[in-house]
Amino acid sequence: MEFTSMTTYRINLLPGDGIGVDVIHEGRRVLDALAERHGGLRFDYNELPWSCEYYLKHGKMMPDDGMKILADCDAILLGAVGFPGVPDHISLRELLLPIRTGFDEYVNVRPIKLLPGLVSPLRSDAIDFIVFRENSEGEYCGIGETTHDRAVQESVFTRKGTERILKYAFDYAVAHGLTKVMSATKSNALNHSMVFWDQIYDEVRAQYPSIEAAKMHIDALAGYFIMHPERLQVVVASNLFGDILTDLGSAMLGSIGISPSGNLNPERKYPSMFEPIHGSAPDIAGKGIANPIGTFWAIAMMLEHLQANDAADALMAAISAVLQQGAVKTPDIGGTATTTQVTDAVIAKL
Ligand code: NAD
Ligand code: IPM
Ligand code: MN
Repeated sequence: MEFTSMTTYRINLLPGDGIGVDVIHEGRRVLDALAERHGGLRFDYNELPWSCEYYLKHGKMMPDDGMKILADCDAILLGAVGFPGVPDHISLRELLLPIRTGFDEYVNVRPIKLLPGLVSPLRSDAIDFIVFRENSEGEYCGIGETTHDRAVQESVFTRKGTERILKYAFDYAVAHGLTKVMSATKSNALNHSMVFWDQIYDEVRAQYPSIEAAKMHIDALAGYFIMHPERLQVVVASNLFGDILTDLGSAMLGSIGISPSGNLNPERKYPSMFEPIHGSAPDIAGKGIANPIGTFWAIAMMLEHLQANDAADALMAAISAVLQQGAVKTPDIGGTATTTQVTDAVIAKL
């Protein structure tokens, strides 16, 4: 009799709304194919139906013990949340954002990399950098008030919150042999929050003399993304700035359906959550043409986080092989394939 060691990963699946449902369904097929082909790992799923549809039935986006249910796993895989019929600020503030803050997933990592086979709308094809977005506070703190005549939206930047994301970005650069870190600011107009961000940036950069650190106002940096992406290695940004810059970054790869997003709790006290950066895309929901690459890439990031590195590498190789062959791609990147056909092609390469 032969014994082989088997690792079982418990994954909480949150398909959510719109194309989130399609891409998570296909993502699960990819995970099953990986488990079948790379002996030694298996996945136990707990699929949770929390979504706008759930909200319309129950009056809330998740049950009262939702966070407790979610906490009980090795990682969370999310599609997208939000759909017409429920105001976005309700659906996102009752599901996605409480997970990020409640599980202290303060690092949002979003690689922007032009894999071979992808065609950038830009002239440069040297696009390979990584964005670290603050994911727990800042412009997303939710504090403010609205009256008939006035709305006040506050931002909260703490020393702890600002310092830890900046340090994470510099540490990543050092650990990966990178030499440049770019900080996004707007301290010309935001005279409290971004002046404070810059001050802490100055303190942190002083601790990393080997890194060529620079800061740029977010408006100029958006232009720099387009004009000189090849000069970027590591970008660090506040919650809102990082959000906007990474849709821009993924669009630079040809589609916002490409880039993945890891919401990390580096201390591993709580589960981390992985998702594509895109949303539920109501305009193409139900058509079966959502690009699943961002989700598959997010799954590869999840596998790496779970230290299933062989499986992560195999999946990235399969994604790259399909993109490079170029025959099977969804309409957003110039093809005619369905979501399922792309998944079949990726599984065939595993
Ligand atoms: P979106 O990302 O859903 O869509 C923007 C555009 O990109 C649309 O034209 C869409 O068709 C296209 N697109 C997005 N993903 C694609 C994919 N995988 N393949 C092909 N095309 C794709 O952004 P939006 O329209 O601003 O938001 C729609 C809803 O999603 C809103 O409710 C929003 O709040 C929500 N949202 C949720 C998340 C999340 O849960 N992580 C992220 C972003 C937006
Ligand atoms: C993202 C999304 C969310 C964000 C929205 C849906 C709240 O755009 O994950 O990028 O702004 O973080
Ligand atoms: Mn976004």
